[in-house]
Amino acid sequence: MNSIKRLFSLNIAILFILGLMITTSSFSQDKAIIRMGATDTHSFDDSWLFIRYGLQPDGSRIEEPQNAESTTYNDNAWQKLSLPHDWAITGPFRIDLEGGTGKLPWKGIGWYRKHFTVPAADAGQQIFVDFDGAMANAKIYLNGHYVGTWPYGYNSFRMDLTPYIKVGKENILAVRLDTENWDSRWYPGAGIYRHVWLVKTNPVHVANWGTYITTPTISDASATVKMAVTIDNQSKLPVEASVQTAVFELDSHNKPGAKVALFNKSIIKIEADTNTTTTIQAIVKDPKRWDIISPNRYMAQTTVSVNGKVVDTYNTPFGIRTIEFIADRGFLLNGRRIEIQGTCNHHDLGALGAAINTSALRRELTILKTMGCNALRTSHNPPAPELLELADQMGFLVWDEAFDCWKHGKRELDYNKLYDEWNVRDLKAMVHRDENHPSVFIWSIGNEVMDQRNVEMTKHLADVVRGEDPTRPISNGYNDPDGGRESGAVEALDLMGVNYFFNQQAKWDADPRYKNKPTMGSETSSCVSSRGEYFFGNDYQNWQISSYDNAYPGWGCSPDEQFRTNAKYPHLLGEFVWTGFDYIGEPTPYNSDETNLQNFRNDPEKRKELAAKLDELRKKNPPSRSSYFGIVDLAGFPKDRFYLYQSHWRPDYPMAHILPHWNWPERIGKITPVNVYTSGDEAELFLNGKSLGRKTKIPGKDFRLVWDSVKYAPGELKVVCYKNGKQWATDVVKTTGEAARLTLSADRTVIKADGADLSYITVKVTDKDGLMVPRSHPLIKFSVAGPGEIVATDNGDATSFVSFQSHERPAFNGMALVIVKAKKGQTGKIVVKAESAGLVSTAMAITSK
Ligand code: GAL
Repeated sequence: MNSIKRLFSLNIAILFILGLMITTSSFSQDKAIIRMGATDTHSFDDSWLFIRYGLQPDGSRIEEPQNAESTTYNDNAWQKLSLPHDWAITGPFRIDLEGGTGKLPWKGIGWYRKHFTVPAADAGQQIFVDFDGAMANAKIYLNGHYVGTWPYGYNSFRMDLTPYIKVGKENILAVRLDTENWDSRWYPGAGIYRHVWLVKTNPVHVANWGTYITTPTISDASATVKMAVTIDNQSKLPVEASVQTAVFELDSHNKPGAKVALFNKSIIKIEADTNTTTTIQAIVKDPKRWDIISPNRYMAQTTVSVNGKVVDTYNTPFGIRTIEFIADRGFLLNGRRIEIQGTCNHHDLGALGAAINTSALRRELTILKTMGCNALRTSHNPPAPELLELADQMGFLVWDEAFDCWKHGKRELDYNKLYDEWNVRDLKAMVHRDENHPSVFIWSIGNEVMDQRNVEMTKHLADVVRGEDPTRPISNGYNDPDGGRESGAVEALDLMGVNYFFNQQAKWDADPRYKNKPTMGSETSSCVSSRGEYFFGNDYQNWQISSYDNAYPGWGCSPDEQFRTNAKYPHLLGEFVWTGFDYIGEPTPYNSDETNLQNFRNDPEKRKELAAKLDELRKKNPPSRSSYFGIVDLAGFPKDRFYLYQSHWRPDYPMAHILPHWNWPERIGKITPVNVYTSGDEAELFLNGKSLGRKTKIPGKDFRLVWDSVKYAPGELKVVCYKNGKQWATDVVKTTGEAARLTLSADRTVIKADGADLSYITVKVTDKDGLMVPRSHPLIKFSVAGPGEIVATDNGDATSFVSFQSHERPAFNGMALVIVKAKKGQTGKIVVKAESAGLVSTAMAITSK
């Protein structure tokens, strides 16, 4: 049989070289992650014990005991683990569970315990435990005593252990999490899924997130750096504290380098059990701006002294940059107009689930950067601190978002249950933690909240944020922009965020009431596709979606259509595409979740139409468990759309991409449309050396070139692209031979032996000439030898029920992924092997250092 093949390697090679260029220029894989806070901070991730009560993975229940927090409770049989931990990602996927949250059994009651000692020398110190995030309804106990709660799973929070800590003896920290009383429109994960830290301070110390740096004046010659420092005095006596801050440049490894300024010293009096804020100032000469191209940063190191003795040292990384949003000029970063080329992303990391991992996140951001993405929207909740640190390091702008709902939920047990009691605390927690990040350029108080027309609520939340940080604009993602505008709720905001519905833009532009509100596409397109699938006639087949990039739900549009809108209304600030990466859950259009209807809040006809479709879908019970919205699939493999965005977002980068693949033995002589994505403006397509004609883009109108009457014949498709009349880029797709072997390539061949650093290894099924064979799905077995282990596998197939932990998985359209880490503390050579019956197997070595 004449099988088909696709010269994927050219684009991947380009991608790789480019990725490398970016990697070695503006950021490096080895840069340290800096954490704002006291220097006496220790990772508290290791040696936890875990047990799951309530709902079990198979749907049965185990009754929760009454006293799992008590010091005498027997936890001998609990599972030993290290954080971050997502208890639900091991599944199993269950067809009876909701596709909306990934068909994973994430609901349950999780208990964690940690036995630890603090040295006797710590007597008199304040001891805190900082959680970067715990899903959800966290209740914290120390030595059997209740310490506190933080229900919203996406916020970071601090617990003061001091009252119950026993120095020089064993302590037991117990954490109860409850996801049974939480609902979500996407996979939220479950557990202590972010890092935990033990912080020790003197009773007189910088408060949690107690520094706030602004840069009120910036010129090429100098920048004024203002810093508000809040000092807590948790001692029993009033104190006089001296506060001093020095500013260091952060070097290329993210380490403090040259000292560039010293703030004026401030002496403050603080009564017992209170706090006081002092504002100090410094001048940084010849400031190096933080920018998306050159993400320079500084570190403010604050020391607090009492009676001449240093009692606390606190680090605050920051950047110097200006941001301006002008209704008729767009967004200016350091005075230069930047079009927002953003992507929305949920927090999960594909096969790793919600458990945060820096290498995984860095890989995602590297892929997005290579595409030309310059901004991230943290949909629809505060992100892990590492995301903001990486955005600062790598040069991304961040739309930092608080909520998916306010007082009225989208699901039964949404944030609506917490709103009254927690909205102020949650908003302040987000702003305090994130306000020193130069990458954060917009605060968002919500996404398509049901209360988006409510003037009072909008004003209240915007005022809370403004009260904490008046230097960044506040927005809200509207799916009922008319409602928000007509009610006047929008007036409380600085920026208008519009999700979809841009067909109204001309009307808004003509209305004098709306003219002065800078507007951006806070969510756009929602194009859906499955990597490597191409259908003719009907875009939706076998629970997959054609990759011709013309499929989207009723509220969405193609990427090209949004580009046209952006070109037509250049005063729009840009867009955040839904989404950069596929995510677990929300497998629209195979999602039978009613929240889909919310996008047609004011259109009863559309709601009715969609409700009928959802009814039909429910009867069929789709196996889909992850999204199709991603420009990049769940395994991190670019879909065709990646190249469409790259062609538009990186106009100076020579590239061309042909779709579909050219393995269609059943289509000989049949019309098989060919699309080309290129940053050029003209292209000529050849089939087996014969020209199929030259096509030219009309600026502002065409973003792809389409040859829609190509009759399929096996062989070679080649495109030669031009820009301004000169040859610019080419791409070739060939009909491949039969699958013959497996090939491996790793994003990183040297990893740290810290038990967390990861290597992502891509497996391709190729023919004997090394061309990736599309439509091939052989079962692949993975194994490792040496000091490493397999963390997870994936292939990007949204319908696969194979566990992410499985060491066997079929390729999906010629590709699969294995994620490997080194065993903690074990260095040496890790050999990763991939085998498949009838194919030449392959292995590669990763070094653990
Ligand atoms: C939006 C919503 C997103 C996601 C998207 C899918 O309305 O804000 O969270 O659901 O639709 O198209």
